[in-house]
Order: sequence, then C-alpha cells, then structure tokens
Amino acid sequence: MDNGGAFTDRLLDDAQIRSGQLALDVGCGSGDISFRLAERVGSAGRVIGIDLNNDALERAEAQALERGITNVSFLQANLHTLPESIRQPHFDVVTCRRVLMYLPDKVAALRCLFESLKPGGRLVLQEHDASVSISSASLPETENAHRLIWDTVRAEGADTKVGLKLHDLIIAAGGKRPSIRAEAVVQTPDQASPTQMILQAMRERIVAAGVASDEEMESLDIATLDERLKQERKDKQASYVGEMIFGVIAERPQ
Ligand SMILES: C[S@@+](CC[C@H](N)C(=O)[O-])C[C@H]1O[C@@H](n2cnc3c(N)ncnc32)[C@H](O)[C@@H]1O
Repeated sequence: MDNGGAFTDRLLDDAQIRSGQLALDVGCGSGDISFRLAERVGSAGRVIGIDLNNDALERAEAQALERGITNVSFLQANLHTLPESIRQPHFDVVTCRRVLMYLPDKVAALRCLFESLKPGGRLVLQEHDASVSISSASLPETENAHRLIWDTVRAEGADTKVGLKLHDLIIAAGGKRPSIRAEAVVQTPDQASPTQMILQAMRERIVAAGVASDEEMESLDIATLDERLKQERKDKQASYVGEMIFGVIAERPQ
C-alpha cells in the first residue's frame, strides 16, 4: 500500500500539465499531489487543494509555508457541494488520488469533478485496488499484514476493487476517452516495503473497525515488522503483490 508517488509523477507527466495552468486537487489530504502540481504549473499557474479534513489541510498549509510554495492554496470543502467559485468550469486539470474508493456515489462525485473542468480539460485519477494478491511462495506474515490493512479499509466502507470499474464510472459521469493503466506493486526479497509505516498509522483504525483487537495489534510487534517481512520473503526467495495502482486520464467533452 505504497502511496504511489512515482506512479503519480508518470501519470501527471502523461496528462501534459503545463506552466500557467489552473489545477484543482480534490481530497488533497496533506497536499502531496497539490505540491507536485504546483511544481508543474509554475509561478504563472495556480493550484487549489480541497479536502473535508481540516487537520490534513493545516498540515498541507504548514508544508507549503515551510517549502516556500506560494502558488498553492488550500480550502475546506466537500467535493459534492463545491463553492460556486470552484464549481465553475475553469480548471485545466482536476486530480483526485485515493478518494473515489471511499465515496458511496462515485458517478455523482465524478460529475462534480468534470463540472469544474474547462471543455477539453483533463481529469487525473489514481486509485489503489486489492483485487489481486499473489506471491511466488506462501508468506503468512506478509499476507496477514495486508489483510489487516485491506479488511479495515473495506470495513470503513471503501470499495477495494474499484480499479476495473473506473472505465464504466467515467463514461457514466460523462467523461470522454478515458486512458487507463494499472501497475502492480511488487515486494521483492531485497526491497523495503511501507507495510510497517502503514500499520503504525492505521493501528487505531484497525482496532476501531473490529478487524483486530488491541492485544492482537500489540502481539504483532509493529516496530520490527518490515525487518521480519523482508526476512520472510528472503527465506522463501519470494516476491509478493498485494495491490495494484490504477491511473486514469479522461477528458471533459468540448
Ligand atoms: C486516502 S486520503 C488521500 C489524500 C491525498 N489525495 C493523497 O493521495 O495523498 C483521502 C482524502 O479524501 C478526503 N475526502 C473524502 N471524502 C471527501 C469529500 N466528499 N470531499 C472532499 N474530500 C474528501 C479525505 O478527507 C482524505 O483526506
């Protein structure tokens, strides 16, 4: 469950975002994509990041200040009820990463995103999907760690198999010519994985969702997990795929 930063950069490269453009990052969280966009649109362009979560927005603002990024601003808003100034069709690009899977009415959400785009403007989506889970040998500890993550996300109401539905969702929302790609995230015997960091960050959510008890989480010894998972892959000479990242570039019709 990597946040897919390198994948995001390739997707943004292919969306051909140019200097001077106006970009909207929906469900921006603490601003990772907003900052990648800010670099691309440059000082002649502008980025607005919107999110429901004020704590995440405060982190985004603090980071913008720390990094001296001045062409980005953040606003608390719900994508379904965007303020009039944002809902108007004036953005060249709208991005939305790891948000759609959590939304109950995905077509309605996508319609709102398309409404903010200029005719011919581009919607860029990235979603993570747990439909595929394969390994070249049995890896019980790795599989258990991934089960905790994805079962929690599912229990919170997310669609963890949204990837192959993206084409139909985009078309139903009025999008044109979606170009869709997917990439497997492969954990090899010698590569570090972000599993420990993710489980640390999700620990309270896992317990709140009833996926594991506090005692079970304690016995997992998260502080040494990555080392153990790497050793498990080494012992079995095995690679593991626990998720796919899907990317979409779609146009708003002229
Ligand atoms: C998994 S985070 C992804 C954050 C960021 N896009 C990223 O990839 O780093 C999902 C974000 O979507 C936001 N979100 C969920 N529903 C939303 C809505 N209806 N309107 C705006 N933001 C929303 C959440 O508050 C959260 O910050």
